[in-house]
Amino acid sequence: MSNTQTHFPADARAYRPRGAAERLFYCRDREVLIDGPAGTGKTRACLEKVHLLAQEIPKLRALLVRKTRTSMTQSVLVTFEEKVLPAGSHLSKGPQRWYRHSYRYPNGAEVVTGGLDNVERIMSSEYDIIVVFEATEITENDWEMLLTRLRNHVLPFQQQIADCNPSHPRHWLIERARQKKMTRLPSRHEDNPSLTSEYLEGLAQLSGHRRSRLFEGVWAAAEGLVYPAWESAFRDHFDPSAGRLTGGIDFGWTNPFAALGGVYFAAGGSAGTIYVWYERYRTKTLLRDHAAALPADHLWEADPSAPQQIAELRRAGHRVRPAANDIVIGINAINARIEDGTLLISRRCRALAAEMSAYQYGPDGASEQPLDEFNHACDALRYLVMGIDRGRVAAGRIAQEPLK
Ligand SMILES: Nc1ncnc2c1ncn2[C@@H]1O[C@H](COP(=O)(O)OP(=O)(O)OP(=O)(O)O)[C@@H](O)[C@H]1O
Ligand SMILES: [Mg+2]
Repeated sequence: MSNTQTHFPADARAYRPRGAAERLFYCRDREVLIDGPAGTGKTRACLEKVHLLAQEIPKLRALLVRKTRTSMTQSVLVTFEEKVLPAGSHLSKGPQRWYRHSYRYPNGAEVVTGGLDNVERIMSSEYDIIVVFEATEITENDWEMLLTRLRNHVLPFQQQIADCNPSHPRHWLIERARQKKMTRLPSRHEDNPSLTSEYLEGLAQLSGHRRSRLFEGVWAAAEGLVYPAWESAFRDHFDPSAGRLTGGIDFGWTNPFAALGGVYFAAGGSAGTIYVWYERYRTKTLLRDHAAALPADHLWEADPSAPQQIAELRRAGHRVRPAANDIVIGINAINARIEDGTLLISRRCRALAAEMSAYQYGPDGASEQPLDEFNHACDALRYLVMGIDRGRVAAGRIAQEPLK
């Protein structure tokens, strides 16, 4: 787009891209990451580029997408209709924003909007340009699936853009950029002339990783999390061909009962790999019903403080033994495995993911023990992993000191 500068409208919504936004306008690379702290103008830049292309290229097809359709309506489309489309544009007439699925331009171009919660609708079509907003919310699998839809070929280049604030430093998006599969355009507050000092002061007052990410724009780990790199353990697919069936159980009634099942695959003399894919997580359910639902043939490692429940599961035909329950050692074993990639967890284990993202140490840092919350599936995981690693701990191969 060599002549973009001449096309910016001269009305009150006049827009001139700066910094990363300007680079985005000229960039033709297939995969692009525009990331940065809050309010740098990333979303506006993506929308302006799409609108400009849609005006200029007849029959262009663009997709604006987020994890869910609802989040899209509440955020991105507000900016699109109120800031990017010309005031009173016929494009935003017709159905209310809530029901709108696309914007049709007079030249036959179409800007489709949606959420990955309705993936069939999105995937049934092809596009020249796709923008994923808050892209840290989607999985790499989602991203690659969207890439397969990038083949309308009306535009001479086909492009998929990820727009986001930074997340943790091992997030797949920043890894993908490091691997040079994506062109990274880091955006800065200087790129947005409309920012006020009040807004920036507000961001500066955030603390910890939120400040690092939203004020400084750094891909920073959340401090205080027990499993800081937890997301890197999660996978969409894996296919353990063989191994020993294993599981962990944390009992509960008003707190959830949590059971995780998986397979341990020992490779030579190494630590082997643990794959976790089964999750059961519910409150106020009789142990009898859990026993009937749990998959057979696993060796379950269960909360050792509940011998009666262990006995009941055994009477129901399950193999169950009291788990090793040293919290610090168990946490270290899990972190060591997350670090070296020998603990892989299916994204179907949603409760476990939610807990791992929240399980944390107290604010004072005084205790080696995490806070006693978000630890039901996390405890089941610890029991499961220690069922396999307790031999290695005894042999001194896992540090008994907490990881710093
Ligand atoms: N170059 C610009 N000129 C004028 N206003 C701008 C410009 N860039 C962005 N803005 C305005 O600044 C506000 C914030 O922009 P935008 O929502 O694009 O930021 P963002 O980087 O996506 O923020 P977040 O990180 O919170 O998602 C919007 O109202 C937008 O219209
Ligand atoms: Mg944004």
